[in-house]
Amino acid sequence: MLKKADVLSGKTVLVTGAAKRLGRAVALAAAENGADVAITYRESAREARLVVGELARRGVEALAVRCDVTDEKSVREMVKEVARELGGVDVLVNNAANYETAEFEKLTVSQWDAIFASNARGPFLVSREALPYLRKRKGRIVNMGSLGGLRPWASHAHYCSSKAAVHMLTRVMAKALAPEVAVNAVAPGMIDLGDPAATAFMKRMARQTPMRRNGTAAEIAAAVMFFATAPKFITGQVLAVDGGLGL
Ligand SMILES: NC(=O)c1ccc[n+]([C@@H]2O[C@H](COP(=O)([O-])OP(=O)(O)OC[C@H]3O[C@@H](n4cnc5c(N)ncnc54)[C@H](OP(=O)(O)O)[C@@H]3O)[C@@H](O)[C@H]2O)c1
Repeated sequence: MLKKADVLSGKTVLVTGAAKRLGRAVALAAAENGADVAITYRESAREARLVVGELARRGVEALAVRCDVTDEKSVREMVKEVARELGGVDVLVNNAANYETAEFEKLTVSQWDAIFASNARGPFLVSREALPYLRKRKGRIVNMGSLGGLRPWASHAHYCSSKAAVHMLTRVMAKALAPEVAVNAVAPGMIDLGDPAATAFMKRMARQTPMRRNGTAAEIAAAVMFFATAPKFITGQVLAVDGGLGL
């Protein structure tokens, strides 16, 4: 029986948009489980370097690569560099995304397209480019969905629709990429990442949540690690991690 710390040893995990927040927590959890970890960043170069340092201190190989997940060429080059430096890809976590609040009447085409480019096209492109490596390693994809892709939020038409697309992409890829690659999604609810501007909102949401609190980055990372290490017979699933808020 492998110790918990060994479950991803010898594996390479690629997490997009992981210089900060949930992606960073997922990357660190993968390293805690023994994986070599590649992260991508777009703007947050300094934070990405710090995360690489934190990963390396856990005794694993670590690498940060700049990538715009909306851009085919950028994605292709990033995946190639990760495979070259770390030998392949066993687990891809499509984490990079954008979130925005917009009243429906005022939502513009450019806002709609920008959210879809990062949140829906991004996971598609990164998955497609990583596929040869994932197939070779009989790997897994974990997409970051959202409770907003399961429940309609009135002031987030573009975000909710993009995350619903990610949930469907998860199910389509689970069918299309089987039997070699398992594909699942984690759909976080309200996660408290300590943003002072969100304190009042977070308190209100905690009161509405059956578990009477918001989630933590560690709880989301644990759900991603579950799919990263789960029986391969589990595929095409979207797991809400929301303290019951969506019920
Ligand atoms: N936080 C929550 O409560 C929550 C709730 C539900 C779902 N989720 C989902 O969970 C995931 C992580 O959430 P989060 O709040 O930690 O995310 P976040 O901070 O909003 O975004 C994560 C990273 O995505 C990167 N990114 C954005 N656009 C990109 C692009 N075009 N190309 C490459 N990278 C890009 C950014 O990298 P740079 O900073 O380097 O530019 C950013 O740091 C997301 O998919 C999110 O939708 C989060």
